[in-house]
Amino acid sequence: MQVSSSISEQSFRQVRDWLYQRSGIFLNDTKRSLVCGRLQKRMRELELASFEQYIRVLLNPAEQLEHELAVNILTTNETYFFREEKHFRFLEKVAAGHKTTTPAAPFQVWSAAASTGQEAYSVAMVLAQQFGGYQPWSVVGTDINTAVLCTARQAIYPIEASRKIPQDLLKAYALKGKGKDEGWFKFRPELCQKVSFEPLNLMEPKQFNYRFDLILLRNVLIYFELEDKQKIVRNVLKFLKPGGYLLVGHSESIHGYDDRLQQIQPACYRLKA
Ligand SMILES: C[S@@+](CC[C@H](N)C(=O)[O-])C[C@H]1O[C@@H](n2cnc3c(N)ncnc32)[C@H](O)[C@@H]1O
Repeated sequence: MQVSSSISEQSFRQVRDWLYQRSGIFLNDTKRSLVCGRLQKRMRELELASFEQYIRVLLNPAEQLEHELAVNILTTNETYFFREEKHFRFLEKVAAGHKTTTPAAPFQVWSAAASTGQEAYSVAMVLAQQFGGYQPWSVVGTDINTAVLCTARQAIYPIEASRKIPQDLLKAYALKGKGKDEGWFKFRPELCQKVSFEPLNLMEPKQFNYRFDLILLRNVLIYFELEDKQKIVRNVLKFLKPGGYLLVGHSESIHGYDDRLQQIQPACYRLKA
């Protein structure tokens, strides 16, 4: 099947507007060839020759499954263990403080753009080390992309991905694959029990029935326009405990978004109590 080799200005705009409506993600003009390449692969699978035909599917409300797939294709999910490592040293300090001040209260963390789960499991290893089996804690990971959440739930990663994980944590919380699983590792069930994943669109947050001690909203705001970034931060703050912490990516600034936020170190904010 011969698929169109380039996407017209008009088709690119239609895809861009569709994705914006659905997720809030804004694809600027520099993303045109990326969109073209990602959709061509799917069009070949569906045996659709032109972008116009694929856009008709996107605009058809009866094609919900394809819409979910298109979001999965069009989101960028790069992530790795202990990314922006300073945040994990910060988390260690916050958890140690919680242990001494409020030992009975559960410590709850939200990885709000979790991708394939590396961020949530990095948090989980730090918390498991701090709290052991003695203090309740949990990590929830959410993402709009349903495919990455499936990978996250499996908790299985290629061994090369473990390079950024400190050796003591890897030894304590991961199992190396043998035989047919050679070249892979998985997290121990005791760790996985504390980590859950669910779909969530940051533009339309669900009601969690509790608030978090710490929220990671990292390397996702870059995909949004200013007004939508502010909306997402407001949405997320509804679920942060007073005195709790919000971490964003080191290349993302939310300075001036909300008067209740106090910056305490680069990319780390505290919600005033
Ligand atoms: C680059 S990854 C960042 C992963 C991780 N937080 C990190 O810093 O390594 C961005 C993630 O945000 C997700 N995302 C984009 N728009 C979203 C939205 N509207 N709601 C929820 N997640 C979204 C993408 O699917 C992607 O997995």
